[in-house]
Amino acid sequence: MGKLLNKDFICTQEWEKEELDRVLDLAFRMKQDRFGEKFLNILARKQFFMFFYNPSVRTRQSFEAAATELGAHAQFLEPKAMRLKTAQTAGETVEDAAQVMDRYARGLGIRILEDKVSAYGEGDDLLREYAKWAEMPVISMAHDKFHPCQGMADAMGWIEWLAPKGKLATGSLAKAFDPEALKGKKLLLTWGQGALCRSWCSVQEAILIGSRYGMDVTIAHPKGYSLDPEVLAATKMNCAANQRRFEVTNDPAAGYEGAHVVYSRNWMSPEAYQGGELKKADEIKKAMTITGWTCDAAKMALSDNGIYTHPMPIDRGSEVSDEVASGPRSAIYDVAENRLHAQKAVMAATMAGYLD
Ligand code: CP
Repeated sequence: MGKLLNKDFICTQEWEKEELDRVLDLAFRMKQDRFGEKFLNILARKQFFMFFYNPSVRTRQSFEAAATELGAHAQFLEPKAMRLKTAQTAGETVEDAAQVMDRYARGLGIRILEDKVSAYGEGDDLLREYAKWAEMPVISMAHDKFHPCQGMADAMGWIEWLAPKGKLATGSLAKAFDPEALKGKKLLLTWGQGALCRSWCSVQEAILIGSRYGMDVTIAHPKGYSLDPEVLAATKMNCAANQRRFEVTNDPAAGYEGAHVVYSRNWMSPEAYQGGELKKADEIKKAMTITGWTCDAAKMALSDNGIYTHPMPIDRGSEVSDEVASGPRSAIYDVAENRLHAQKAVMAATMAGYLD
């Protein structure tokens, strides 16, 4: 296992499985002993910079709470409050900004989503540029390709429900990390209809981490809504390494059969960027012509007593029915809560080298 102090967290796939295990184990322990003495000062007086190009509910709140609970301070930054060089304007380079930030802070989180870039992958490039110049860890707070902290919270929630001592079996969430809990379980990731043109970051992270933990992965989407081919290849490779199935279907119902975790979410098509611009209105218009892709109770009945998961915010009535989102097998609030615990563990490990 590599050294986690100062390790960037841009995608879970870039971390060794043992590193993910150790951080998830810490996250479970931090959840059980949220204000335990030993965790309170791990980052005492340290700064965590939260650099947001896009708005957020869960991410800002959970990172700010995480910093406070570890004894650190989270500072909110926006590009409009800085004078950064862009394609259109003169200003400070990332090289300079990153190296100055490094003198003040112990960690840097960045969020840059689909509408703040002119082509898929530019946000990922920006994070890696900051990571190149900053010694402190760069943590993705969701960018156009990946959302690793969401992936950790997802895995935590699915384990809490599906472990032998988990909620489906005992009525209460599993309290300890069980790296075997997801092995052989089926994850259905299904496109959800709606007028959102969402980025690929959360869903790509979900299939990567699910396959890493030994899940069968089925992706269901209408024709023309495939995800990043490199991410699909990595997911397929993870499944093959664990002797698990990987499949893609264009049928809105077929993938539910045998599913243990159902994840429905709208996402944009690969044609969303045209001529260096996100054609959001066109994408929405196209998506609105597609029907039959709402996750509802009838489809969930085809699953194997499956749980429902979504990173939120949810487009209720389009991506999923209220009945499912607020139903007895919905894990959405557990997963949302786990953002806090997973991020505390990631920050402790990467900003202080703490794993005890
Ligand atoms: N899941 C998630 O990242 O939520 P926010 O966009 O509200 O931060």
